[in-house]
Amino acid sequence: MNVAILGVGTVGSSVVKILKKNKELIKARSGVEINPVIGFVRDLSKKRDVDIELSDDINSILKRDDIDAYVELMGGVDRPYKIVSEILKQEKPVVTANKAMLAYHRYALQNLAKNTPFGFEASVAGGIPIIKALKEGLSANKIEKIVGILNGTSNYILTNMMQNGVNFDEALTKAQNLGYAESDPSFDVDGFDAAHKLLILSSIAYSVHGDPEDILVKGIRKISSEDIFFANEFEYVIKLLAISKIEDKKVELRVHPAFINKDNILAKVDGVMNAVSVYGDALKHSMYYGPGAGGDATASAVVADLIDIAKGNKSPMLGYNTTLQNVKLLSQNDIKTKYYLRVRVEDKKGVLATIANVMSENRISIDSFLQKPRLKDEKYTTLFFTTHTSLEADIKKVIEILENMKFVLNRPFMIRIES
Ligand SMILES: NC(=O)c1ccc[n+]([C@@H]2O[C@H](COP(=O)([O-])OP(=O)(O)OC[C@H]3O[C@@H](n4cnc5c(N)ncnc54)[C@H](OP(=O)(O)O)[C@@H]3O)[C@@H](O)[C@H]2O)c1
Repeated sequence: MNVAILGVGTVGSSVVKILKKNKELIKARSGVEINPVIGFVRDLSKKRDVDIELSDDINSILKRDDIDAYVELMGGVDRPYKIVSEILKQEKPVVTANKAMLAYHRYALQNLAKNTPFGFEASVAGGIPIIKALKEGLSANKIEKIVGILNGTSNYILTNMMQNGVNFDEALTKAQNLGYAESDPSFDVDGFDAAHKLLILSSIAYSVHGDPEDILVKGIRKISSEDIFFANEFEYVIKLLAISKIEDKKVELRVHPAFINKDNILAKVDGVMNAVSVYGDALKHSMYYGPGAGGDATASAVVADLIDIAKGNKSPMLGYNTTLQNVKLLSQNDIKTKYYLRVRVEDKKGVLATIANVMSENRISIDSFLQKPRLKDEKYTTLFFTTHTSLEADIKKVIEILENMKFVLNRPFMIRIES
């Protein structure tokens, strides 16, 4: 099977290397030889450490009759979508790691692919075969809930903040120095990378439609040392969670930092590692753990998809679920969970009673309260609250009211609590 590698960067180079290094083993497992015959790149003069013929002419590559399958590893959204669409129109198999393209165009691509194999295992938590698990291993289950730590960069930063007492900026710099974070880390630390992956998993699980902009996405930039202090006091760990749940044909999708109990199994997923917890009606709970990114881990999933194609596996791109349900996205305001609020206030009489009153008038019931000891001569103090299960719309209203009160210094900061 001859393969064109569209994009020979971090992942593309690893794919070429694995296909060459494990050639015999792959042939034994798939029944055919899988040969990377041409690579598509932008800059032909760039030095590369892989041995493959290169071209910067996509049209000539797409016209070649001797290519049996294409691997898209360029990144981006619209350009790869256009190229992949061209390939699917020729009914040639595609493998991609491109979560951003899939987050926006997954259903259009599925409609184009029909019975043409389309592999995207590498698009979510590269080193964890979670797509195959959802499409095949768990196919007897009605999936009820998925909770994932899907972004290694954010998890590395939060782990460092929790364990070493550093602030966000220091942890980010360390992650960048070690190559775990890009020079522009927004995509990772603002939650959109995890949101793309959550949309992909949730489409397989519940056939839900929606773009990243349609769901609740919050990042980790505003987590402060005071939140870490609170987490330690109350036996919590802070993780950037990607959560999806289905109830009454409404799918709740959200990505945000969350407090989870220290004894929650996800609390033990540290550093750049990823994990996905899946809840189904038959199996109840299973968890998958592994490296989420990196050239080789991601390429391992790409090559596994190629082996599947060589073996003739033709399962539909998003699985068999797509016409079974008519589900809708739950509105963000209707989300129900527990909340933590950090409020910086003037330390004077009546403040606490006023805040408690605002909460009660907006149907928020306080579960616990903590006041950080104030430094001598300091005018302000920080109050921490946790709530019983409440409505997102109500807590947002409380934050809005408190922000406009004279004795409140900054906009109160909220973190959701997941049990
Ligand atoms: N890196 C990871 O750990 C990881 C993990 C999971 C998923 N992914 C996904 O895998 C894909 C590839 O990621 P990567 O890290 O390998 O990216 P990368 O290192 O930036 O490589 C991208 C490759 O695509 C080529 N390319 C980009 N735009 C092009 C264009 N317009 N025309 C021609 N060639 C073009 C580049 O050519 P030049 O070399 O000439 O610049 C380069 O070879 C992305 O969708 C990413 O989200 C990556």
